[in-house]
Amino acid sequence: MSERIKMILDCDTGHDDAIALMLAASNPKIDLLGVTVVAGNQVLKKTLVNTLNVCQRLGLDVPVYSGMPLPMVREQVVARTIHGETGLDGPVFGELHLKPQPQNAVDYLIETFRNSDGDITLVPTGPLTNVAVALRMAPDIAPKIKRIVLMGGAYGIGNITPAAEFNIYADPEAASVVFRSGIPITMMGLDLTNQTICTMDIIERMEAIGNEAGKLFGEIMRFTYVTQKKYNDLDGGPVHDVTCVAWLIDPSIFYTKDMFVEVDIEHGPSYGRTVCDYIGNTGKTPNATVGTGLDLPRFWDMLEASLRSMK
Ligand code: RIB
Ligand code: CA
Repeated sequence: MSERIKMILDCDTGHDDAIALMLAASNPKIDLLGVTVVAGNQVLKKTLVNTLNVCQRLGLDVPVYSGMPLPMVREQVVARTIHGETGLDGPVFGELHLKPQPQNAVDYLIETFRNSDGDITLVPTGPLTNVAVALRMAPDIAPKIKRIVLMGGAYGIGNITPAAEFNIYADPEAASVVFRSGIPITMMGLDLTNQTICTMDIIERMEAIGNEAGKLFGEIMRFTYVTQKKYNDLDGGPVHDVTCVAWLIDPSIFYTKDMFVEVDIEHGPSYGRTVCDYIGNTGKTPNATVGTGLDLPRFWDMLEASLRSMK
């Protein structure tokens, strides 16, 4: 088997973040070095607890680091309609014993990439605050980050405003730092991720695996099955964040298009929009590989096989 892919997950757990964590922690092609947590779906103390709860319940042996509690510039926004008051409403977890690492997530990112051989991929599935602050504190790490595979943005419509997707909108200035960093970027935006609607048949398929991972998958996705219908009229919760880990595992499942992407940080109706040059009329060199489609059956097969390998 080819060498495992070294990755760090930077997340704001969240329902789909939790599934992305489960895939990254279980797929044999991934070497999950660490998990850094950022405020996003909910405030940091909640996204941290959610991340630790998933790790504890599934016995995931991966260090978890707490990061930035607030966006770089704008006021904080959270996504309590979709993800609930805890940020991971639905599952019931036991008493939490697992603790985060003492090192701050930003310091961990800087130290890890600085001391690496440039062979680690960073997978942010929440607002890009941790990543941008690390790049601002230590610009020397940019060439040491092999690739950033992020969930965020859209070349079509947004989900938190007509123009902006939540992860970008929650910290547009951080996203602008990342897209201007020169680091190779894969962007899984809503145009792609909204194709991964977790309908009830998929929920029942994963629950039928019969292990704790399948059970937790059901508890998690049954919650957003309801909220995504209520607030976005979707037939289930898109597993947005999972697409990033899946692309890393097997990019052949996905269709992508290279585009020049910049983030609108003007305080107008498009604040936080990823302005994607889909047809190339800016003449600017593409800075991102953007997801446009996927082979959905192969995507669910990959996820099922990974969950089946868990406890
Ligand atoms: O817009 C979808 C993104 O916002 C996902 O990462 C989801 O977890 C939320 O953070
Ligand atoms: Ca997320």
